[in-house]
Amino acid sequence: MIILKTEEELERMRVSGRLAAELRDRVAERIEPGVTTAELDEYARDILKSMEAESAFYGYHGYPGNICISINDEVVHGIPGKRKVKAGDIVSLDVGVRYEGFVGDTARTVVVGQVDEEVMRLVAVTEEALAAGIAQARAGKRLSDISHAIESVVEMAGFAVVREFVGHGVGRNLHEDPQIPNFGPPGRGPELRPGMTLAIEPMVNLGGAGVRVLKDGWTVVTKDGKPSAHFEHTVAVGPGPAEILTCQKEKE
Ligand code: MF3
Ligand code: CO
Ligand code: CO
Repeated sequence: MIILKTEEELERMRVSGRLAAELRDRVAERIEPGVTTAELDEYARDILKSMEAESAFYGYHGYPGNICISINDEVVHGIPGKRKVKAGDIVSLDVGVRYEGFVGDTARTVVVGQVDEEVMRLVAVTEEALAAGIAQARAGKRLSDISHAIESVVEMAGFAVVREFVGHGVGRNLHEDPQIPNFGPPGRGPELRPGMTLAIEPMVNLGGAGVRVLKDGWTVVTKDGKPSAHFEHTVAVGPGPAEILTCQKEKE
């Protein structure tokens, strides 16, 4: 069941969304060669504390981190630890913030120092794919119009969409209906309505689409060891263009 949010609830989603965006970007600014992912996670924990907010990830199905940090061939759900970031890495940060009962979920991939041209393109295309998906998140469109727009951008660029993990509704819970695959034909699924709040999140691989989960039970990596990028926004469907809730600006 897709939970539509009232205007009052949307107002609260705007707050948690803005906090999530701030957390994402403040942690991103701390990324530099030599920093460990555990240090980034502790920094995130301190910021959440100062916001009087909670991680929506910590303890979720037993997840041990405050945020997810996934490097290079790690796709999503990387657990913070002793690993040091180095020049030439791409680092995907995914944060979920719960504030006064509502969740904002957002991710971005950060490039550290100089990386290959092809990897730069992977990151840019993944962000473009997210924008193309958001552009379809309008009242009257169907859910899979989002999926199809994302897949089209990725395929045109010659990269591969991850199929095992999907976007989702978000609200009082981190994961609500509907699931939002990043692939598929257009014009399918429920009609989009004002009040739907969606986390749209393409995960894009430079090589093949295949992924597997490491023995830690969380970290998703590409089967071929090639890099992967991830961008995510929480958006609200309205009468006009979708409102991006996980941005730091008050209004566009
Ligand atoms: N942030 C992920 C998503 O975008 C979910 C992370 S679940 C966790 O849906 F348990 F790993 F935190
Ligand atoms: Co996320
Ligand atoms: Co999400």
